[in-house]
Amino acid sequence: MKPRILVILGSTREGRVGENVARWLMRQLDERPEADFELVDLRDYPLAVYEGPASPDQRDAAVRRWADKVAAADGYVIVTPEYNHGYPGALKSALDHAYQEWNRKPVAFVSYGGHAAGYRAVEQLRLVSIELQMVPIREQVGIQAPWAAFDAQGELTRTGAKEAVGRTIDELLWWTRALQHARATN
Ligand SMILES: Cc1cc2nc3c(=O)[nH]c(=O)nc-3n(C[C@H](O)[C@H](O)[C@H](O)COP(=O)(O)O)c2cc1C
Repeated sequence: MKPRILVILGSTREGRVGENVARWLMRQLDERPEADFELVDLRDYPLAVYEGPASPDQRDAAVRRWADKVAAADGYVIVTPEYNHGYPGALKSALDHAYQEWNRKPVAFVSYGGHAAGYRAVEQLRLVSIELQMVPIREQVGIQAPWAAFDAQGELTRTGAKEAVGRTIDELLWWTRALQHARATN
């Protein structure tokens, strides 16, 4: 079955630059027919800071809607900014509100920020994703100073980023297929 990949936009901030990054990324992914990629904006899944029960049968409607969305995917691309060397709280809450739904699925990262291009946020996300029993992909995409990186057409003016997307998605899809097969046969 054709894999379904959620592209999760992790910034919900007013005036966020993440939207430009996500739109640009989705245009790259339009050229990848091997999977169906869907952009998921955490603004469309408003969740309280996680303080709820871990048991799936005690979830409220908003959490169930989010968890069902996560469950229906075979893999994920998380688009994240870097806030104080970490990643946004809204993203952590979204991760914590599900568990089994993430298990045994791959996740790739596209980050952006200042000099470090959001890599410090991704290092933390890698640790969290392992605890959620995901498989974090080694290849990644980092965009420095994205607020000055897009032209009027929304094209990225930096070299190398498209190639990095290609490598990252190649690896993500390899793991997506491998884990789809493993989940179906184990
Ligand atoms: C609260 C806050 C903390 C930030 N901390 C960092 C940081 O530690 N490292 C960094 O590279 N950029 C940092 N930045 C700059 C962000 O990378 C930049 O504002 C980026 O556009 C944020 O993504 P967003 O616009 O999609 O929310 C910070 C921005 C905010 C709002």
